[in-house]
Amino acid sequence: ERTRILIIGAGPAGLLLSTLLHRSGVDHVVVESRSRSEIAHTHRAGILEAGSVSTLVDLGLTRVIEEGDRHDGIDMRFDGRMHRIDFDGLVGRSVWLYPQTDVFVDLADRCEADGADIRWEHRVTEVLDAESDLPGARVEGPDGAEYEVRADLVVGADGSHSIVRHGFPEQMRRTWVHEYPYAWFGVIVEAPRSAPELVYTESEHGFALVSQRTPTLQRLYFQCDPDEDAAEWDDARIWHELQRRVAGPDGFVLQEGPVQERTVLRFRSSVVEPMRLGRVVLVGDAAHTVPPTGAKGLNLAIGDVVVLHELLEEWLRTPDDTLLDEYGRRAGRRIWRAQHFSAWMSRMLHSTPDEDGFERRRRLAELHMLVDSEAGRRYLAEGYTGWVDPA
Ligand code: DHB
Repeated sequence: ERTRILIIGAGPAGLLLSTLLHRSGVDHVVVESRSRSEIAHTHRAGILEAGSVSTLVDLGLTRVIEEGDRHDGIDMRFDGRMHRIDFDGLVGRSVWLYPQTDVFVDLADRCEADGADIRWEHRVTEVLDAESDLPGARVEGPDGAEYEVRADLVVGADGSHSIVRHGFPEQMRRTWVHEYPYAWFGVIVEAPRSAPELVYTESEHGFALVSQRTPTLQRLYFQCDPDEDAAEWDDARIWHELQRRVAGPDGFVLQEGPVQERTVLRFRSSVVEPMRLGRVVLVGDAAHTVPPTGAKGLNLAIGDVVVLHELLEEWLRTPDDTLLDEYGRRAGRRIWRAQHFSAWMSRMLHSTPDEDGFERRRRLAELHMLVDSEAGRRYLAEGYTGWVDPA
């Protein structure tokens, strides 16, 4: 079987590329090991940068602005008080609260309407001949039958456990990794909103983030040990921990309700270099992961795909492989900015298990300097809403 572009992975990155290729009239196949319903029901991130929203809206995917919530700022909370960062006033840009699961459903609906060839529950077992002009993959269908697909280019959009990345020989790639000594305990709760915007909280009991999903479902996170067992936390214990982290002289309290889901999310930064080997390229989590603070993961995946697609338009006419190297260079600039931004937000807001009194006071001084300075607030606003075309 032969196609022009073989996309491995039908998460937001793979499906966005499929949508863009369909518009350019480029023949492609998408294979995905999970079912559509499994992906649609896995809670992921919730914040889209202004540029990510424009990408979707330009494709006619307007549900994000119709049903999503525009957020013109966030609150940084420390010393038990709110410190608002006014994105719109500082940089004239906003972000949208719109869950990744909805981004996925919008893209999947579009691809299916386009008649795209998306093969759910088809598992790639091996990437073939990456360094030839006709790379491909061996795929196992849901019935267990194996077949081969060959293409001009294979795109690995298969997430942080990427099979495609593992096809890059060890001696050909470097992975830059950073581990953090904390994680997030994430919950979905049935309750009304506690605050109009997101609240990033530093406290003596650790970090907490108040986010949202719908008027009746909220997304909350609190810093925990990476080995924490979510099953050991009943609703009362979760609420006690969250309330004491956000408590302060202003009397702020969270609206409580039944906890529907609880999971521990690990913190890890990683970047793979190079992002291409021969005729195989990586996009999104297959190439890099960020810790969740600042919500950059999905936005980076969208950024990668936009850059790759721009270069592919030319490469498909004239297959000059230096264009594929340009992909890594261009995407890398945004990726490393996001790595810095996510690590910076994480370190500024979380305590480490061995933190001493000096370090905590230093972090609080950093937070005060940030919010008391217009330059500081603008720096945060620029990073959070997303860099416009990093040069
Ligand atoms: C959400 C996740 C984040 O990591 C973040 O920084 C903001 C919001 C969320 O899931 O809503």
